[in-house]
Amino acid sequence: MTKIIITGSKGRMGQALLNCAARIPDLEVGGAVDQSDDLGAIIGQSDVVIDFSFHSATLGIAELCAKHKKAVVIGTTGHSAEEKAKIVALRAQIPMVMATNFSTGVNTLFWLTRKAAEILGPAFDLEVVEMHHRLKKDAPSGTATTLLEILGDVRKLQLEDALRHGRKGIVGERTQNEIGIHAIRGGDVVGDHTVIFANNGERVELTHKASSRDTFANGALRAAQWLVNQKPGLYDMQDVLGLK
Ligand SMILES: NC(=O)c1ccc[n+]([C@@H]2O[C@H](COP(=O)([O-])OP(=O)(O)OC[C@H]3O[C@@H](n4cnc5c(N)ncnc54)[C@H](O)[C@@H]3O)[C@@H](O)[C@H]2O)c1
Repeated sequence: MTKIIITGSKGRMGQALLNCAARIPDLEVGGAVDQSDDLGAIIGQSDVVIDFSFHSATLGIAELCAKHKKAVVIGTTGHSAEEKAKIVALRAQIPMVMATNFSTGVNTLFWLTRKAAEILGPAFDLEVVEMHHRLKKDAPSGTATTLLEILGDVRKLQLEDALRHGRKGIVGERTQNEIGIHAIRGGDVVGDHTVIFANNGERVELTHKASSRDTFANGALRAAQWLVNQKPGLYDMQDVLGLK
């Protein structure tokens, strides 16, 4: 039996996690924490904390996990580089899974994106388009950021220089050393991501569309069950799915 605590429990993902956890027999919810609740008071009741809250909350939650030697699954996105560096530094003390997307389909998209970029090569222009519901707070999405990191890695491009966030005005002709990123917001879209590889005469588009948050929730719960048996370290969903 794996005992979990969910932080961000009143949010869209928190609610999906609670619903999905109730359907998994060997998983028990030891606590549900949202703003103004005291995680420190109940953390002893858990094996793993699952965090889907807000970027500025994750570090404090992860530090509490390290203090109490509890594993942590982090689904929250939008961390600054400084926040992320401090969070991942805790890898030496506890097992952590950090993933911008917990769905099996998106992790397949990550794999396919790397493969396609390697096969198609530098002649193809790269653009990423993501769409999310109107209430999403960070942009571009964490998933889009992972896709951009994969593309930057294959093309050996520094993202600070290469990224073009939308385009406006007399931007000039597109260069080979740029990657476009476009964040669309509207309605109740759970999460759409498309990677476009465009060349003269042809283009390849890889698209994933999530229609239910349960796909992320079930992936995060699977990660939590996997994580309790791991040594301290930083893992991602590709580790959980055995894709490495
Ligand atoms: N990794 C993935 O697969 C994945 C999938 C979907 C969403 N997300 C990310 O998860 C996060 C939550 O998404 P959401 O749509 O559920 O957002 P949401 O705004 O619906 O919910 C966030 C919840 O966190 C709570 N919260 C804020 N600060 C807190 C704190 N200090 N302690 C405890 N709770 C706190 C809020 O009150 C709210 O209830 C976002 O960063 C989002 O991008 C990740």
